[in-house]
Amino acid sequence: MHMKKPIGVFDSGIGGLTVLKALQRALPHEHFVYFADTANLPYGEKTPEQIMGYTRQTLAWMQNEIGAKLAIAACHTSSATALDLISHEFSMPVLGAIHPLVETVLQHYQGRRIGIIATPTSVHSRMHENSLLQAGFEGHLSSISCPKFVPIIESGRISGPELLRSSYEYLSIFNNEGLNTLIFGCTHYPWIAETLQYVLPSGVDFIDPAESIAVKASQELYKYKILNTSNNKIKIDFYCSSTPERFSAQLNLLMSIPQPEVTLVRLADGAALPQKRVVNE
Ligand code: DGL
Repeated sequence: MHMKKPIGVFDSGIGGLTVLKALQRALPHEHFVYFADTANLPYGEKTPEQIMGYTRQTLAWMQNEIGAKLAIAACHTSSATALDLISHEFSMPVLGAIHPLVETVLQHYQGRRIGIIATPTSVHSRMHENSLLQAGFEGHLSSISCPKFVPIIESGRISGPELLRSSYEYLSIFNNEGLNTLIFGCTHYPWIAETLQYVLPSGVDFIDPAESIAVKASQELYKYKILNTSNNKIKIDFYCSSTPERFSAQLNLLMSIPQPEVTLVRLADGAALPQKRVVNE
């Protein structure tokens, strides 16, 4: 049955887990397959052509090997540079991070002075601003690329002096331009929200698109009549493209999963099979 098939969620690494958490809350009876493309991390330093290749092969794997009923590109860098250009190549519905975010901003933050923090590749694409402006946003937008954040977060240093220094460096624009709203334009950044809050002037509102993506995912499942209406307990399978032991340890720390099993999968030309199962004990 179609409704019993999994929902594929992907990111370059641990960032998409911030989206997975929102999806877990919104869709507690679904089966999720989370893929972290750790072999190609960080996406934010890659060219749009490279991101297009990674995204295409991930979606092909989700459709052909996993049999996903819906694919979610939690990753903003993929959503900004590849998704709109290639999602028509797939028969499953594909949802990205940026369009749900735009809907939320127009509904609740119209006219604000907004800073968007994102990876260099996302900022270079201008996709966040262009999507907001095309949809009718009328406030002020400034995009800030934060290249040091993803390596810091992936290495687990999600507090401390190094993060604090980079945060002051990137976010000084909030004082200089009198911004009052911050968009997390990268899935990794909610993991450092506490430090960012500390650094920003008081009264700045945070927009984490994770909730908007989860709402949109629920709507898509209703629309295509593929919502899992059973009382099944949520199930999540984790895959990554390199260093599964490391990813397993990160899952343990960030998601409090006791012994997360992670399957290594190497993607190439849109076809791949799991190579090895790794249990972290
Ligand atoms: N977390 C991804 C994003 O939302 C990409 C981070 C990276 O690998 O640079 O943009």
